[in-house]
Amino acid sequence: MQIDIFTLFPQWFDWLREQRHVANVLAAGSRIECVDFRPHTPLSGGQVDDTPFGGGAGMVLRVDVLDAALRARYGVDPVELRERRRVIALAPGGRLLDESLVAELSREPELTLLCGRYEGFDERILEHFASDVVSIGRYVLSGGEPAAMVICDAVARKLPGALGDERSAEEESFSEALGGNPEYPHYTRPAEYRGWKVPEVLLSGHHERIESWRRERSRERGAAQEQGGGAG
Ligand code: ADE
Repeated sequence: MQIDIFTLFPQWFDWLREQRHVANVLAAGSRIECVDFRPHTPLSGGQVDDTPFGGGAGMVLRVDVLDAALRARYGVDPVELRERRRVIALAPGGRLLDESLVAELSREPELTLLCGRYEGFDERILEHFASDVVSIGRYVLSGGEPAAMVICDAVARKLPGALGDERSAEEESFSEALGGNPEYPHYTRPAEYRGWKVPEVLLSGHHERIESWRRERSRERGAAQEQGGGAG
């Protein structure tokens, strides 16, 4: 898979590339490349943003700047680009990222992630260049970069060779194997610590009972999360 990230802070992603599971998929042939869009601006002084029409606080990323950067990278009119690959703008009002969207994205051969800054994107970027607008939650970040990292991290976990033990992806939170519920609780040694005991069933060696205990805990967590709570 090839992921291109359009950002004003390409160096932030150096850290991401070094993380074990991301490094594993990069070693297996995937690529994460950053495009700094400031050098592509047709405006003087490296300007990439401007004040909003109609007034209001903050600055807005300009459509002509993104047009130039996308054109320079792909050699086509960005309006046509989204027919060929997913071009994902990261913004708080987008489709909420969840495990099924992560799985969908992990099956794409190529992704383009657009990171906004300031007050966000000129709406024409979303209307004419983006195939998707994705949000990682109903809160406002100061830019799309952390959201792009979240997507890269979650997508990379789904690629072959990312995790040492492939079973860890099969049974993890929100997987089909768990009926879309969060994962069950885990415990390790010591079996008792400060009087806090590991549930007896996990020490029993009885695989069926362990399996059904885990499914039940996973279902409970799913129900708690639906009601606005959650754990683990
Ligand atoms: N940019 C700013 N806030 C964001 C969010 N919650 N998700 C994705 N991109 C963002």
